[in-house]
Amino acid sequence: MRAGVYDSGIGGLTVVKSLIEQKLFDEIIYFGDTARVPYGVKDKNTIIRYSLEALEFFKNFDIDIMIAACNSVSAYAIDELKANAPFKVSGVIEPGVMALKNKIPNLDANILVLGTTATIRSGKYERLLKQNGYKNINSLSPSLFVPVVEEGLFEGVVLETVARHYFEGIDEPDVIILGCTHFPLIKDEISKFFPSSLLIHSGEAVVEFLQKEFLLNQTFKQTSLKLFASENPDKLKKIASVWL
Ligand code: DGL
Repeated sequence: MRAGVYDSGIGGLTVVKSLIEQKLFDEIIYFGDTARVPYGVKDKNTIIRYSLEALEFFKNFDIDIMIAACNSVSAYAIDELKANAPFKVSGVIEPGVMALKNKIPNLDANILVLGTTATIRSGKYERLLKQNGYKNINSLSPSLFVPVVEEGLFEGVVLETVARHYFEGIDEPDVIILGCTHFPLIKDEISKFFPSSLLIHSGEAVVEFLQKEFLLNQTFKQTSLKLFASENPDKLKKIASVWL
């Protein structure tokens, strides 16, 4: 079973980590569009166009499923990907909501969704959460985190300053959805501002979601990973060797 995992950059590695840990695939082909990251500040049509180009890339491999491990793509381009793909396609927003449902039965919980401008503008998290009965939802797009993470700054003064810029004065919610796959890489910094909030990300429920939705029930002894990037693949490989 072979998966193609796609993100604008390195963030999708946070989803790859969960996929490798749970051994759902014997091979993962990863593509990070590092030449054009960030996606989250771009408009809907651009994100759809980039996603369809990534789809063409994955058509060169005999994959069983393409996982858009990017919330901005999941927010805007999933329907177009599904309509044009010769294999199954999954996003990460539904798994993120599933992860929250698994952990938070209280429908009155205060939820803060952190995502890119594109993800928040799409309103997809908010819609799905409301459909599931949650009432108290706020959203914030700390888009500057994406270039900071791409720069490999997972701690330190730059990250701290950006975090303060977005988070100072924000009430601590019960739960925070890390609605951008780059954000789990800086979860320690986010927790400094919101020490009692539970942090949720899509990687947590992605395997459960894929098993349920696509009936992927086999597991494999190990998963091999091939990494591709539209620019500077060595940087992607370096970060993968640290994060995975
Ligand atoms: N990691 C992506 C996401 O989940 C994209 C971030 C970006 O490229 O702006 O939205």
